[in-house]
Amino acid sequence: MRVCLLGCAGFIGSHLTEWLLDNTDVDVVGTDIVDEKVRHLFGRERFTYYDSDLRHDEALTRRLVAESDVVVNLVAIASPALYTRDPLHVFELDFLENLKVVEMCSELGTRLVQFSTCEIYGKTWLSLVPGRTRSALERDRADVTMTEDETHCIVGPIDKTRWIYATSKQLLERVIHAHGQHRGLDYAIVRPFNFVGPRFDFLPSERGDDSPRLFAQFVDALIHGTELRLVDGGTARRSWTYIDDAIECVGRIVLDTTGATSREAFNVGNPDNEISVAELADLMFDVYTRRHWDGASPLPRIVSVPHEDVFGEGYDDCDRRVPDISKARRKLGWTPTTTLIELVTLTMDAFVEHYRAERARLASATT
Ligand code: UGA
Repeated sequence: MRVCLLGCAGFIGSHLTEWLLDNTDVDVVGTDIVDEKVRHLFGRERFTYYDSDLRHDEALTRRLVAESDVVVNLVAIASPALYTRDPLHVFELDFLENLKVVEMCSELGTRLVQFSTCEIYGKTWLSLVPGRTRSALERDRADVTMTEDETHCIVGPIDKTRWIYATSKQLLERVIHAHGQHRGLDYAIVRPFNFVGPRFDFLPSERGDDSPRLFAQFVDALIHGTELRLVDGGTARRSWTYIDDAIECVGRIVLDTTGATSREAFNVGNPDNEISVAELADLMFDVYTRRHWDGASPLPRIVSVPHEDVFGEGYDDCDRRVPDISKARRKLGWTPTTTLIELVTLTMDAFVEHYRAERARLASATT
C-alpha cells in the first residue's frame, strides 16, 4: 500500500508518518513546506519527502494522488489567532485548496482521509440557553456530547470571523459527502479534539510569533515567568487527547481496507479528559513547578483577559467540546488511555527539553 500524506511535517502529520514507518510496511510519500518535524525520518526506507506547497504544485499533487492508494490531507491553518487576523487566507487554504484535493481524489479514484476539526460542531446548544434555566439542564453531561451524525453545527454571526475556519471545514465535509454520494468517492473524515504531545505547535517566544494554540502559550509563559492569560476568565472547556492515542485511531482509519470506515466521519478525542482553561492553567502551573522550576526564576501570574485583547473583535469561542467516541470504539476497537495528568506531563516535558536543547545549541553557536 502507498499512502500519501499532504502536510506530513506538521504536528499530527509528523506523528502519523513516524507511526506508519514504525508499525506497518506501507510506503509513505509526504509533502510539506517546512520539514523540521520530519527531518529525523529522512533516510528511512519507505519514506519519500517532497518540499512542496499545495498552492503552487498542483501537477505534483495530482501525480501523487494518482499513484497512491490513500491520500491523507492534513494541510490547514488551525490556529484561532489566524482566523481573526487573516480570515481570507484561512478560507483559501482550508477550503479552496483542500477542495482541489477532494476533486482529484474523486476523479482519480483514490481513497481520501480528510482531516477536519471538532470545531465544526461550534458551540453547544446549552450555551444558547439563558443562564437562569441552565443549571438544571447542565446536570445531564451527555446532552452536550458531540456525535458525528447527529449533533447540529452551531456557529456565531458573520462578523465573528473566528467561524470562517469551522464553516470552511464544514462546507468541505459537506462537499466530500456529496462526492461520496454522487461520484463514488471513498473517504473517511477525522475530527480531532485538541491533540497535544511532543512537536505540538511551537513556543511563541522562539519564533516571535504569537499565533500558537493554548498549550504552547501556557508553556511559554511558565518558562519565561510571564502571564498565563485566561481568555474571558478561562471558563471554556476542552477535552484533551494525547497524540499517541490519537494516532492509534487515525492509523487504523488510514489502513482500513474492510470498508468499515468508508464514507464515515470519526470524532477522535478523549471525553474523560475534559477540563476548563482555568483549571488547566492551575494544573500546568503545578506540574511545571514540581518538574521544571529551578526554585529561583520568576513564576508567571495567572490573569483573566478579555478576548479582544488576545484575538481581536472577531473572536468568539466554543464553550465545550466533549466527543462521543462510540463510533471509533465500535468500528475500530479504539479507546484512548492517556490521562490528563499524563498528557500534560509528557507534552510539557517535550517542550522544556526542546527549549533547553535550543538554548544550548544557540549558546554553543555563539561561543
Ligand atoms: C483550535 C482549533 O481552532 C481547532 O480547530 C482545533 O481542532 C483545536 O484547536 C485543536 O487543537 O484540536 P481551540 O481549542 O479553541 O481550537 O484553540 P486553543 O488556542 O487551544 O484555545 C483553547 C481555549 O483556550 C479557548 O477557549 C481560548 O480562548 C483559550 N485561550 C487560548 C486562553 O485562555 N489563553 C490563551 O493564551 C490562548
